Order: sequence, then structure tokens, then C-alpha cells
Amino acid sequence: MNPENLIRPDLKNFESYSMAKAKLPTQEEIILDANESPFGEPYSRYPDPNHFDLRKKLGECLDLPINSIFMGSGSDECIDLILRLFLLPNQGYLAIPKETYGMYKIQAQIQGLNLFQFELDENFQLPKLPPEDVIKSKLCILCSPNNPTGNQFSLETIENWLKLMNGVLVVDEAYIEFSSGNSVLELRKDYPNLIIIRTLSKAFASAGIRLGYALGNPYLIEKLYSIKLPYNLSSLSQREGLKIIDGIPDFQKKIQIILQERAKLESFLNSIPQVIKVWSSQANFLLVEFQRAPDLQGFLKTQGIRIRDRSEIRANALRISIGTPQQNQKLMTLLKSFYCEESTVY
Ligand SMILES: Cc1ncc(COP(=O)(O)O)c(C=O)c1O
Repeated sequence: MNPENLIRPDLKNFESYSMAKAKLPTQEEIILDANESPFGEPYSRYPDPNHFDLRKKLGECLDLPINSIFMGSGSDECIDLILRLFLLPNQGYLAIPKETYGMYKIQAQIQGLNLFQFELDENFQLPKLPPEDVIKSKLCILCSPNNPTGNQFSLETIENWLKLMNGVLVVDEAYIEFSSGNSVLELRKDYPNLIIIRTLSKAFASAGIRLGYALGNPYLIEKLYSIKLPYNLSSLSQREGLKIIDGIPDFQKKIQIILQERAKLESFLNSIPQVIKVWSSQANFLLVEFQRAPDLQGFLKTQGIRIRDRSEIRANALRISIGTPQQNQKLMTLLKSFYCEESTVY
């Protein structure tokens, strides 16, 4: 499949904004080409629009060439730009599962795109073969491990989908570091129509910095660079990003704590009779179906604990992010007391 044929025809030969900083200045140069302040304050200069240092470091970390990495202000920006690159307003169709990360739909709506929403099975797994409309669509996004259901799709099924699809398949791996399953990264070489999205917001504890990235075919990555806002990542976030990537090995300990806590919370929840179902999770959250879910959520709120209503996915489903051991302990104590009081009422 030739990736050139996948992007919007009007963006094929699109001439992007030519930035003063496209080539970074040397120390000796006098820079009078970007209407910046000349006095040398720490942030007086525009940042590197091509994120060279950041992509180099990330590339070393992932063992990938720099030209297959796009950096965005959070993975949400990557998603936004991918929709723009492939789909025309009022004409394009985005295919997504019904039960998935809500921003795909919102961003598609903002861009005036049509949606094709297909069903996952009762365990929130993908159908073995893509539905007819997915095969025809120019763009499909899968989230794996999926938010808010927590399960990961099998590599084999995703590869089957890639073989049959005529368009681009985006796999959002925002939670991949919490999973015991394989990433789709290894499929990248064989399928130029695969784009993988990841983020520093979750396992690497940096949601406030706003750094996400897309990995894919160099032609498509270059095209994403051509349509983004010129200076989408501030100097501050690029500098902090370098430190975060350097510290990635140190996050392993924290990821392990989250995994242990996830297992503990899951088995605790399974011991409560009023818990109808706990979906097994490969992410840093659990989706749980409770009896009297709205009352429980309200009660926890009064006790200073916020969890997320996900009843649009399943009636009475709440999504709980895994906290610190202390936070989870408090949650478990409150859950017990909520349902104990309930049994005395009835
Ligand atoms: C599946 C998924 N993708 C992307 C994002 C956005 O992440 P970022 O902070 O990188 O924009 C989220 C945030 O919750 C998410 O759950």
C-alpha cells in the first residue's frame, strides 16, 4: 500500500508555512528573522519546530529513526492532526468502536467528519474480521489497551485487520506500558498504513507537560509535520520532555506498584457481593459494574474520592484509576462501609 494515496488529495502537494526556525541558528549568528525580542531572556526565542533533540532521544529509547516519530502537544494533538491529514470535513468517515476513548468522536465532530461506530463483543474484543464499513473507511482508530474497558486487542486480530483494510489504522497505545501483552510496534515495518500513538501522560507521569507522539511511515510523519501549528511544543515542554525520557527506566518501579495495586483492588472488588463485574484490565484503571453505581459515586464524592461514570458503556459501570497504596486502601475501606450500611438498610 502506498501511503501517499491515503492522505487528503488537497494536502499532497500542500505548501506548509515556512518557519524562521526551520533550521536552528548557530551560537554566532545574529538572529533578526523572527520578530523576537533580542535581549536574551530565557524564552525570548521560538522553540525548535521540528523537535529534533526530543525525537532523537525518543528514537534512541524506542530504537526507531527520527523520521518515523511525530511529537504533539499530548496524544490528543496527534489524533487531531491525523484526522485532518486523512479526512475531509463533511465527506470523510472515521471508524471507531462504540466503546472507546470519547475524544475520537468529539474531535471528529469538531472537524465535521462522519462516524462509523462498530460494536465490540461482550468482552469488549474486536471482531476477528473488520466490519465491511471499516474495510472501506479511510481511517479507523483502535485504542489498545482500550479506554475505558481496559482490555488489549490481540496482535493477530489487529494484523488481520491491517491486511484487509484499504485505509489507515491508528492504534492508540496510551496505556501500553501497563500491559503484559505485545505492542503493535513490530507490525509497523510491514504495514505503512499503521500509525501508533503513545503519550508521556500516563505511565511516565507527565500529563501536565503535554507530550504525546505518533510512530509511523516517514512519509506520513513528514506530512503530519507539514500541517501542525508551527511551534506546537514550547521550549519548556521540549526541555522537560528530554528529562522525562531520560528518566523512563526509573518509572518501571512505579508501573510495578500500579500493577500490584490493580491486582489487589481487582480481587478486593471481586469479593464484594454488590460488585456485578470487574473487567480484567491491562491499563492503570478498572472498569467495574456496581449495584447502585450512581449512589456509590455520590457517596465517594462526599468522602473526597472522585471516580468516573462510564454508564454510557455499560449500565452502572464506573471507571476507577489506580491510585497510591494509601489512596486505594481508603477507597476499599469506603466501599466496604458503603455496602455494609446498605445491607443493614435492606
Ligand atoms: C486512550 C487515550 N488516548 C489519548 C489520551 C490523551 O492523552 P494525552 O494526555 O497524551 O493528550 C487519553 C487520555 O486520557 C487516552 O485515554
